Amino acid sequence: MYKEAGKTKFQIDLRQHLRSQNLSGNFIHLVCEIAEASKYVVNSIRTGDLGVAGTSNLYGEEHVTLDVLSDRIMQKRLLHSGVVSTIASEKTDEIVTISSNPQGLFSVVYDSLDGASLVELNLAVGTIVGIYQGNDLLQPGRNMVGAMYILYGPRVSLVYSAGKGVFEFTMNQLMEFNLTREHISMSPSANIYSPGGLRAKYSPQHDRVINYLEDKGAKLRYSGGFVADINQVLLKGKGIFMYPGLQDAPQGKLRLIFELNPMAFLVEQAGGAATNGVTPILDIVPEVLDQRAPIYIGCREDVEKAAELLGAG
Ligand code: AHG
Ligand code: MN
Repeated sequence: MYKEAGKTKFQIDLRQHLRSQNLSGNFIHLVCEIAEASKYVVNSIRTGDLGVAGTSNLYGEEHVTLDVLSDRIMQKRLLHSGVVSTIASEKTDEIVTISSNPQGLFSVVYDSLDGASLVELNLAVGTIVGIYQGNDLLQPGRNMVGAMYILYGPRVSLVYSAGKGVFEFTMNQLMEFNLTREHISMSPSANIYSPGGLRAKYSPQHDRVINYLEDKGAKLRYSGGFVADINQVLLKGKGIFMYPGLQDAPQGKLRLIFELNPMAFLVEQAGGAATNGVTPILDIVPEVLDQRAPIYIGCREDVEKAAELLGAG
């Protein structure tokens, strides 16, 4: 559920909304800079212009793949934002220190274009961002001060939370983000489920979770794009997304820091839950940057039921 944002003739844009939320100027600037960066990503996706970020490649400049280009766009924006002390990207898997004095600054982790290979199939892809105060990126997700994603689908939408609820903005024809949903909240029980991974490699315990969801009549909804699949679970408010540990990959496929923590932050803010089957995702203490974890995320009742079935030995 959510409250449809007031349909007035004066739309509330992203910056106006953020200013109404009693947030720090640096945080507002950071979110707006990431929103600005997404416009270049949109342009590259829509036009296939893979020139160097922001310029045409008519003169034979280096062609880069979309995910490399979007990573450069995000990194350039964050480096020059003036409010970021440390960054880490899923694509480069390294920590870049921008400022040695993290006072008043943020650390940002991001997956610049999750599901990038889906663009050539014209399926929805997205940017995922996690925000910490200070310069320590290997903290549990519970310590984040904000998280957001931008979903490049039939519409371009931006969903964020700074710990005071979850809000959605939709890009208009002028590429401005206007508030379209506020205080997004999830129902306790799911009627759709997204089963990642390969059935033949499921554990017997995970099979039990799938059977429980099928027995309650939940419908399978899976696009293969994490951001689109999570967005569907969050906005419908009646879903659970899973990417389990597999027989040959017990930690699953998705990355804790760049993918799972930001989404778990948003879903918990909307009244949902997220677990690796044993521990809430946000309480996992990361050891390495590219750490993976199994994920069950969405409606609280079903996430709790999944943990129970997984732990039932
Ligand atoms: P990435 O493009 O960052 O590697 O992420 C792709 C992920 C994620 O988008 C999605 O949930 C998952 O791959 C789908 O994996 P399967 O194709 O194995 O279902
Ligand atoms: Mn990813």
